[in-house]
Amino acid sequence: MKLSTRLLRWYDKEGRDLPWRKTRDPYRILVSEMMLQQTQVDRVKIFYRAWLKRFPTWKSLARGSNAQVIRAWAGLGYNRRALALRDIAREVVHLGVPKTEEEWRKLKGIGAYTAAAVSIFAQNKKTLPVDTNVRRVLGRLLLDKPYPQSSVYLPLRAKGSILLGETNRHADLVQALFDLASSHCTKIPDCAACPLRSVCPAGAKFLAGRVKTPRRMMPKPRERIRQGKKYPDRIYRGRILRLVRETSRGVRLEGLGKRVDPAFEAERDTQWLLDMIYRLERDELVIMKHHKLYLS
Ligand code: ADE
Repeated sequence: MKLSTRLLRWYDKEGRDLPWRKTRDPYRILVSEMMLQQTQVDRVKIFYRAWLKRFPTWKSLARGSNAQVIRAWAGLGYNRRALALRDIAREVVHLGVPKTEEEWRKLKGIGAYTAAAVSIFAQNKKTLPVDTNVRRVLGRLLLDKPYPQSSVYLPLRAKGSILLGETNRHADLVQALFDLASSHCTKIPDCAACPLRSVCPAGAKFLAGRVKTPRRMMPKPRERIRQGKKYPDRIYRGRILRLVRETSRGVRLEGLGKRVDPAFEAERDTQWLLDMIYRLERDELVIMKHHKLYLS
């Protein structure tokens, strides 16, 4: 049986019912893909529906101010993505909806993965979006690599396009890869229960106990260590932004450190706090005026 057939049979029985799988609207697909970068599917589901009520179309989003889109994005994290999405909506309203992967790619904030994802899910193009999930599953299945690194990108695009060529349900096939990545083909995989176990070369290695899990497969986020526990800076940046969002009267710098982290010590931590504020300003999420922070 062809690999695509196996995957689709499994997907038809076990695939997840996700809201962005019921649409071909490029706007809705792009919203889902931008939200799914860095945020868990279950969390995205909730925010996706609320976002589409607030901003149902390119036009409505294009009219959103920085403060409006950041408020609507609240809870998803990495707020820069919200502004990027709004800027893309402005471009699309101005220039029209891109028709090819290359045209999507030209929009600021859309990388190779997102361009391919919108092209296949909204416009039925046979192109393979390679995120870490797809890379892991297909790297194992097609390239025999238990922990495929980013260098497999080109071979995967080549072999993956052959796989997509096997079926006219190529978009479903990629959705099946996402589902397999979250159910069985996880970082430490459950090969014994995997529907593709009999055809997966890397699976054979895992099952034979011949794979060592790399200690760290991800780059380290910026973080501080406190009482032996690690706290990534984005948690503190999120706290700062929440405080700024909650008031229109501005948040005073004085006393902000302790509000962000009760263990804040001015002498030791002021530079750390200012660096985070600087990054929020650079990302155009906040502005500082007269020693107070406001949404930009
Ligand atoms: N991760 C990225 N895109 C996804 C999608 N469309 N469904 C589930 N997980 C995803």
